[in-house]
Amino acid sequence: MSQSSEEKIFIGSFIHSNECGELIVIDRGMIHVKNGKISNIIINPSSNDEKNKNVIVLNNTQFLIPGFVDCHIHAVQLPNLGVGYDKELLEWLEHYTFPLEKKYIDEKFAEQVFNTVVKQTIKSGTTTACYFAALYPKASVILGQTVISKGQRALIGKISMNITRSDNYYETTEESIININKFIEDLIKLNSPLIKPVITPRFALSCDMTLMKKLGKLAKEKDLHVQTHVSENLDEIEAVKNMFPEYPSYTAVYDGAGLLTCKTVLAHGIYLSDDEIALLNERGTAIVHCPSSNTCLKSGLCDVQRLKSKSIKIGLGTDVSGGQSCSILDAIRSALQVSIHLSLIKENYKALNYKDVFHMATLGGAAALAMDNQIGNFEVGKEFDALVIDIDISDGLLNNLQSSTLEERLQKFIYSGDDRNIVEVYVSGRKVK
Ligand code: GUN
Ligand code: FE
Repeated sequence: MSQSSEEKIFIGSFIHSNECGELIVIDRGMIHVKNGKISNIIINPSSNDEKNKNVIVLNNTQFLIPGFVDCHIHAVQLPNLGVGYDKELLEWLEHYTFPLEKKYIDEKFAEQVFNTVVKQTIKSGTTTACYFAALYPKASVILGQTVISKGQRALIGKISMNITRSDNYYETTEESIININKFIEDLIKLNSPLIKPVITPRFALSCDMTLMKKLGKLAKEKDLHVQTHVSENLDEIEAVKNMFPEYPSYTAVYDGAGLLTCKTVLAHGIYLSDDEIALLNERGTAIVHCPSSNTCLKSGLCDVQRLKSKSIKIGLGTDVSGGQSCSILDAIRSALQVSIHLSLIKENYKALNYKDVFHMATLGGAAALAMDNQIGNFEVGKEFDALVIDIDISDGLLNNLQSSTLEERLQKFIYSGDDRNIVEVYVSGRKVK
């Protein structure tokens, strides 16, 4: 399916964030979309404008918000959603995750699961996803094809791991380099503006320094994004220390490999030291907050305010299936709840509010992925990636609110809405739900 070349004009309410994280609430505005991009925005258009060709007028229970950005999701782990939270990270990986991920050698299985993942995430309002795909290049390319065919925007990462395992779930260093190059080549051949490859060393415990350095070099040469995990679990951190004793910290291991750039996203970052945060800042590297996963796997409570106060870019991730839901709306709520719990046990800690987390799920996530010049809010020149929210759906619980303010309707959606309230989803101006 081609990108939309037609013109669309939306008239109605819209809400988005600015770079400072402030909420911008427009009761009545008009957004022109041409060739998938926002070409003009008018505040308080006249009722005459509603008579124009190609106008979509939202009703008074509806409003537009930017599409959600999921900065960290494992497409291959969907079949394990909701399973295995009796274990913590390292045992969970061995017992539940790696056995499932080995199945993606079967391309039919990959196709089936990825169809569901992409369909479900679009339904939940994810217009951009940063995916961990499979260890296998063929399955990883299938994820790219699926994303393109369903019209989502995504970064797609073939997982790299070369530490020997008795179950053979790894690549030799040589295979790993051949496979990542083949994957990048095949993904680029798909020739879609919607997807890009992302270099994906699984985490420091899965890759040796030789491989990580080769991947860092590749990312630099080809100007690619990088994604991995950092400082998620105390046993993991201890194991990294033992495996790389010559490096002062977990973050320093990645830096030593040249993997930290302003196009790198690191999931979790719960136990980072001040020195690690300073290093991330210097490199312009972002942290992806994964509150549902941090809770389900009992990894810890991430102090996002501390990271924010030190100017670290922060995106939000579902981290399926460490996290129990594909929905960024659920991640938003988890982030709010974790932050409130932290405020109850920490002195002088101010909990995040719904505006902070709405920003994190949209423009903040876009900035974390270094895509904020392209997506994340409604600005002329950006892609029209947007959700039409309706709080008055017939089978939902949020109706009878016509008299509430627009900001209250956003609150209702954030705290108590679900997929059914996301009535339309647009990526690059094209309706995908
Ligand atoms: N660390 C290494 N691999 C994984 C994974 O698949 N999920 C999570 N949450 N952490 C990881
Ligand atoms: Fe993860």
